[in-house]
Amino acid sequence: MRTSFIELTEPTQEHADAFNRWENDRTLIPLTRPNQSQSEVEEPVTMTLDHLIERLNNHRIYLIYLDDQLIGEMNFMVDPGHLYKKVPGTAWVGITIGEPEGRGKGIGFKAIQFLEEQVRKQGLRRIELGVFEFNQNAHHLYQKLGYKEIGRIADFTFWQNKMWADIRMEKYV
Ligand SMILES: CC(C)(COP(=O)(O)OP(=O)(O)OC[C@H]1O[C@@H](n2cnc3c(N)ncnc32)[C@H](O)[C@@H]1OP(=O)(O)O)[C@@H](O)C(=O)NCCC(=O)NCCS
Repeated sequence: MRTSFIELTEPTQEHADAFNRWENDRTLIPLTRPNQSQSEVEEPVTMTLDHLIERLNNHRIYLIYLDDQLIGEMNFMVDPGHLYKKVPGTAWVGITIGEPEGRGKGIGFKAIQFLEEQVRKQGLRRIELGVFEFNQNAHHLYQKLGYKEIGRIADFTFWQNKMWADIRMEKYV
């Protein structure tokens, strides 16, 4: 098993199709984006090539490969408005291993460490992230990597008939 992480600099239609598939995956939607209701959970989104190119204006995106297969992506933004602690020079990170066969094999663990290195290379020293409280796999991974809880935003997202909190975590890198 060989994993590689490659910065996305020239998005293609193939990349946009993969993002579009992951962003509309019923099992991933509740884990990766906040929703206010069940109908929002079910709402389709369209990720076109133009949208992906636009996303590069304020995100650095890294593609995750398992052997030659594109299985996911991770990204960071600098100092977005929604930070829980507004410390200048903070990277807000996100990760999605979109293909199910890529999960639970230690790839997320390696991928986040790679992302931390890229954040450091940008001269940034703080990372903040959000994880929905029912997403135990992701929460466990972040704890294992040394992320510490700094707060919870109650009633943040809808899943299985109720609202759940967003757990905010930080790490100095
Ligand atoms: C969350 C995610 C990034 C974790 O990456 P991963 O490659 O699956 O996780 P790893 O294999 O590196 O596992 C790291 C730790 O988390 C646990 N874990 C992760 N996924 C798990 C799973 N599906 N089942 C059980 N444990 C899991 C592992 O047990 C491991 O801890 P351990 O070594 O103490 O057992 C990935 O599963 C994913 O993209 N999931 C869907 C989208 C998502 O939840 N994104 C994060 C939003 S905050």
